[in-house]
Amino acid sequence: MNKRKLILLLSILFFSCNSYSHYDRGGMVSSANDLATRVGIDIIKKGGNAVDAAVGVGFALAVVYPQAGNIGGGGFMIIHLNNPDLKLNTSIDYREKAPLSSFKDMYLDDSGNVIDELSTTGSLAAGVPGSVAGMLYALEKYGTMNRKEILEYSVNIADTGFFIEEGLADALNSYQSEFMQFPGTMNTFGGKFKTGDRLVQKELANTLRRISEKGRDGFYRGETADKIVQLMKNTDGIISYEDLERYQPVERDVIKGTYRGYDIISMGPPSSGGISLIYLLNILENYDISKSGYNSSENIQIMTEAMRRVYADRSEFMGDADFVNVPIDKLTSKKYALSRIKDFKIDKAGNSSEINPGNPFANESEETTHYSIADGKGNLVSVTTTINDVFGNKQVVDGAGFFLNNEMDDFVSKPGVPNIYGLVGNEANAIQPEKRMLSSMTPTLVFKNGKPFLVTGSPGGGRIITTVLQNIVNLIDHNMTLKESIDAPRFHHQWLPDEIQIEKRLVSKEDDEKLTVLGYYLKGISDFGRVNAILINEDGTMEGHSDRRGYGSAIGF
Ligand code: DON
Repeated sequence: MNKRKLILLLSILFFSCNSYSHYDRGGMVSSANDLATRVGIDIIKKGGNAVDAAVGVGFALAVVYPQAGNIGGGGFMIIHLNNPDLKLNTSIDYREKAPLSSFKDMYLDDSGNVIDELSTTGSLAAGVPGSVAGMLYALEKYGTMNRKEILEYSVNIADTGFFIEEGLADALNSYQSEFMQFPGTMNTFGGKFKTGDRLVQKELANTLRRISEKGRDGFYRGETADKIVQLMKNTDGIISYEDLERYQPVERDVIKGTYRGYDIISMGPPSSGGISLIYLLNILENYDISKSGYNSSENIQIMTEAMRRVYADRSEFMGDADFVNVPIDKLTSKKYALSRIKDFKIDKAGNSSEINPGNPFANESEETTHYSIADGKGNLVSVTTTINDVFGNKQVVDGAGFFLNNEMDDFVSKPGVPNIYGLVGNEANAIQPEKRMLSSMTPTLVFKNGKPFLVTGSPGGGRIITTVLQNIVNLIDHNMTLKESIDAPRFHHQWLPDEIQIEKRLVSKEDDEKLTVLGYYLKGISDFGRVNAILINEDGTMEGHSDRRGYGSAIGF
């Protein structure tokens, strides 16, 4: 495609965002950005499969959604292949790793206190990026198109620019003071932005070109690696050539469960997402939660008690299973779930223990991103990727045009001290060289009678798991449409702090009072989670929806 044609195309696209699309059989893509969604659809229309489209969308998001869409970060991809010669469910783990020179107490001062911002901002906050290696692995093994065809979209968009939407303009403007610490960031993203401005990213285009030409060596070796390591040297960071050279994605078994006859496929460690989702569903299966309505006090109470128990176990037992023993079978067994909820009492709120003080949600962000893809041939891909916080560690690699992650904050800096999502943890998630930090990302597939039913996932830090849970429960138990199941107000409990975090409009005054009398503390919070999902009907038609809370789009044909 020549550049003039591309700009014309982009102008048309900019004014035609769709958050909902339905009854399509050819293919469906739902992502956080309309342009990225259209890249995926174009790839499927050209004959690419869902994996080709996912990789195209991933690289496109790296350009149009710099808050989260990443080559400086990591993620998880769940793949369901339905080729006549190859039918499988698998997952690709391209989570960032702790650098070789990292160590357990690296964020503590001499008195053993956590040093403010060290795990969230600047070089020391960054884990070794995994996205490029992971996406290319997926493309080479399960895709059908070649790297250059797929990368062409993102190279062109970075090179010729795209028109920014309101969400990105607002985000860029509100982070200017943090960007100022980093010359590389100011060079690319310094200034005042408004909706409709064209953002050109030449340095990023060159980085993507190197990846297009040389594959993983275009990122983990040569010029891009030089720029990353140079930045580290200039700013007391620790990611080395050896770290980059050694980074490998890992293909892992998916985590499996069932819920009221549906099959659930999700991400295993180093994510806590799949285990926690199945554990939650296993508890809820013991109750008729459809009876009283999704927003009733009864429903919220039982779901809260399930969440409390699951997040308590998350904090103690979950971490990178390559380093620690995660009791996956037990945590996902129906028997264990039942034993954990046995002490639940309907007439009284449960009680979580006390936790160290702090304001865990001060840095609330919604800047991981999830995309869902179905290619009309029965192949499904569900991807959640992240650089953790909005714009990651806020540091663009000088001359390379992309943000590094601040994923190191997903480790436990100190037992009991909450991370930016208020999550606490222990030994299982302590920092160790080359270990992957525990994640909550929950890219998920649901099957009904063996046939694809739902492709889903969300950003939202620790609230990802409960967001995906509510999407599933709203569909299966409360008979909502896909759109309703995603747009409905949500709530969340994560053991500590001991509070039900609740989006406005979820509960009536009466139900709020009922819960308060039982001893629950309800805390109103702003919207969380941004689901991008696809529902596949029995007749093979598809519906896609992009959460009302974001600026994304779902498109099918
Ligand atoms: O992997 C995780 O669980 C986090 N780094 C995800 C962060 C996230 O969802 C940010 N957006 N709210």
